[in-house]
Amino acid sequence: MSFTATRPRRLRASPALRALVRETALDAGDLVLPLFVRSGKGEKRPISSMPGHFQYSVDEAVKAAGEAASSGLPAVILFGIPDKKDAKASGAYADDGIVQGAAKAIKDKYPELLLIADLCFCEYTDHGHCGIVKGDKILNDPTLELAAKTAVSQARAGFDVVAPSGMMDGQVGAMRKALDGAGFAETPVLAYAAKYASGFYGPFREAAESPPSFGDRASYQMDPANFNEALREVALDVEEGADMLMVKPALPYLDVLRAVKERFLLPTAAYHVSGEFAMIKAAAKNGWIDEKRVALETLTCIKRAGADFILTYYALEAARWLA
Ligand code: PBG
Repeated sequence: MSFTATRPRRLRASPALRALVRETALDAGDLVLPLFVRSGKGEKRPISSMPGHFQYSVDEAVKAAGEAASSGLPAVILFGIPDKKDAKASGAYADDGIVQGAAKAIKDKYPELLLIADLCFCEYTDHGHCGIVKGDKILNDPTLELAAKTAVSQARAGFDVVAPSGMMDGQVGAMRKALDGAGFAETPVLAYAAKYASGFYGPFREAAESPPSFGDRASYQMDPANFNEALREVALDVEEGADMLMVKPALPYLDVLRAVKERFLLPTAAYHVSGEFAMIKAAAKNGWIDEKRVALETLTCIKRAGADFILTYYALEAARWLA
């Protein structure tokens, strides 16, 4: 290939030509909307660091899910804020728990909308860690029993997919076994397979009221500096029966996303997390960037890097922009 025989600009000359050769297409069908649910009625509490997002009571969450469905989104993922937190995260696996109730109400009204359950304990424990705590340690194996119970409770409530995000070793296998044993062999697991201990989760912790009361999550979530370790983490989850994989956060980890997609060839998601969303919102509010352009560019690039679908707080706005 040499200039002048090859002139890449020839194919950029018009919108039609550019559309013809475009390699990545983003559409609403690729996007999953996270929703935060708490008790109450008619409640919609704004989350200040995530403009346009709320903690919803169940009835309001049903309305938000309806908006997702009518905007062409295939799925929502639910996070619960329970009334009571305790050391054993009881609210996570209570059959009348907050997300279980929300799932039933949403399924009732919008049976076609896929419901994904985030499976983690930080919103449900009084210490805010993602597992059973002893002293200053987060215990792995006792947490697996809770994960198994929670997966079954979520499947029973009507969730279509369970998504473990606690980064405990063996959690996918423990849940798979429990689901199979309880008659949910057909319920897929979306593993937050490579989840990093990231500063980009800041706004989420306000939204889900889940910051750890001591220490941090570095003993279970991954070191942002590590790439090889991500592939080992993912390999374990695949071996344990993960049906779909996730890399989280998204934009700073596109190298990991691409490698996971190429190596494991499973449906792969990326979580465009709260801090990534908040940065675009904040800069746009200051007039420093064009929000629509930057948000769609970001989501397109996450898809280009290998994501089959994207969990993003921009899901509804992006669906509107793309319609
Ligand atoms: C639960 C969980 C977190 C997020 C998703 N599931 C928070 C955390 O690990 O601290 C973060 C999502 C976001 O920032 O949007 N463990």
